Amino acid sequence: MGSAAFTVFFIFITVLLVLYKWATSNVEYWKKRKFPYIRGVPVFGNYVPIVLGTYDISTMYRNLYNQMKDARFFGIMIGTKPALLVKDPELILRIMVKDFRYFYDRGFNTPEKDFIGNNLFFLRNPKWKALRGKIVAVFSSAKLKASFEIVDKSIDDFIEYLHETIAQEQDLPTRDVMGDAMTDVVCKAICGIQIHTIKNPNVEHVEIQKMVFAGNARNYIRNIVTFFSPEFFAKKIYSFPAVVETYFSKLTSQAIELRQKENVKRNDLLQLLMEAYEQEQMLPVEQRVLDREELVASVFIMILAGYETSTSTSSLVLHELAHEPEFQEKVRDEARKVALKNGGRIKYEDLSELKYLEQVISETLRLYPLANTLFRECMEDYTIPGTDHVIEKGVFVHIPTLALHTDPNYWKDPEKFDPDRFSGHNESLITPGSYLPFGDGPRICIGKRFAFLQLKLVLSKVLLNYRVSPCEKTRRHYPLIKNSLLAVPEGVCWLKFTRVSQSNQF
Ligand code: HEM
Repeated sequence: MGSAAFTVFFIFITVLLVLYKWATSNVEYWKKRKFPYIRGVPVFGNYVPIVLGTYDISTMYRNLYNQMKDARFFGIMIGTKPALLVKDPELILRIMVKDFRYFYDRGFNTPEKDFIGNNLFFLRNPKWKALRGKIVAVFSSAKLKASFEIVDKSIDDFIEYLHETIAQEQDLPTRDVMGDAMTDVVCKAICGIQIHTIKNPNVEHVEIQKMVFAGNARNYIRNIVTFFSPEFFAKKIYSFPAVVETYFSKLTSQAIELRQKENVKRNDLLQLLMEAYEQEQMLPVEQRVLDREELVASVFIMILAGYETSTSTSSLVLHELAHEPEFQEKVRDEARKVALKNGGRIKYEDLSELKYLEQVISETLRLYPLANTLFRECMEDYTIPGTDHVIEKGVFVHIPTLALHTDPNYWKDPEKFDPDRFSGHNESLITPGSYLPFGDGPRICIGKRFAFLQLKLVLSKVLLNYRVSPCEKTRRHYPLIKNSLLAVPEGVCWLKFTRVSQSNQF
């Protein structure tokens, strides 16, 4: 063998050895620390079904959860990175609420210049805390009440559109239809922009939304890479394609300029952020927490989070009610009673009276928790109370919501759709920490109350006017999209919409 060939051979073997060391370095991680664990394979850990596209993420976590019947927690490997899957509701609440100071980040990393990626959801401390403090005020009772009128008007436009489209009865792609309605509502309520009237679709906006949530190859690769090497690759690959960033920068700038030109003030998130931004400009640069990029990122995450969650939840509620006509009638009766008090209108103050509808929404979110896993990162070594087990700094903590929501230890007949689980009497029987559709603790969903406001309003108005039922194209169960971090059903989800008799409508 010549010396050149020998050098190449030597380099080849060295690279192989380094790769082998990297791939196997953490395989014994949990065993060495005497944690219960499910052994993963080198390089891919326990994520093989995701890499191969065998399961969606919710199903994969549920399978792992069910394999470890008696464990309160157990270790898995996300690629070569250790993650602790927590099953015990009491420990979950400690991690999310009481001992939050050890677990304040979600474990996402975004490139510094990825400014829409650096939104509230992905942000790490201390930036997250400062920004959350600024925007939490937009979801106060006073602000929600003020935005009610905007949401109400957008939903009326949607009902009018349905009346124009449906003569008496018609099969409709429910998810698409609700998506159009929620796009309008959210954009109007968040930044005062009429984005997408159903009659005159804004194709660009719809495409951008799809680009963010769709299970496409780019998102798939980024998701995998983010999990497999969060410190390295995730800091280099932008969270969203460049067109998404350009689009939202333009959208926000136009909305701001319009307001400045017309000198109008509105009761929405954008107004609040603009005011906070202007106040910050008076401060020395080093004390500012809200710059122009963060303002755009905040508008971006509110529009996107608000749109996707409300679209999925409202269409899934209609899907379940279509299969449970008795429950549907109960929701309609309740809404009718509330509306009758005010000549056919539902007012902000009346929303709390739509109790059965709230139970139906809660039960839908039990069976379809959109965030199928909650993520935390351990920020400082943490001894699990009552044990010698230490969760080490840097380890991910994953909380599998769908698995918890359907665990027969906490839910009788868990696959059954039963809104009575959330009735005043039964709610106190729910094990704390076993139901987490909005997460918990200081990082709980910031939009929860706004979500209930728009969901209650849109669902009660649709059901006051239309009866929904399965049609020929309806499937009882839809599989979840495989390469998405959200639990979104695959397919169009058709339902038949039939006009409720005129005397009962509003
Ligand atoms: C049915 C509707 C919704 C569901 C099921 C939902 C669910 C969630 C969940 C599970 C989290 C993570 C919580 C945690 O890690 O503990 C979250 C965070 C978040 N949600 Fe929602 N969400 C909904 C609606 C909304 C709406 C309408 C908005 C805004 C308009 C919104 C904005 C956010 C933001 C900004 C975060 C990150 C909060 C932070 O890290 O401080 N969500 N949501």
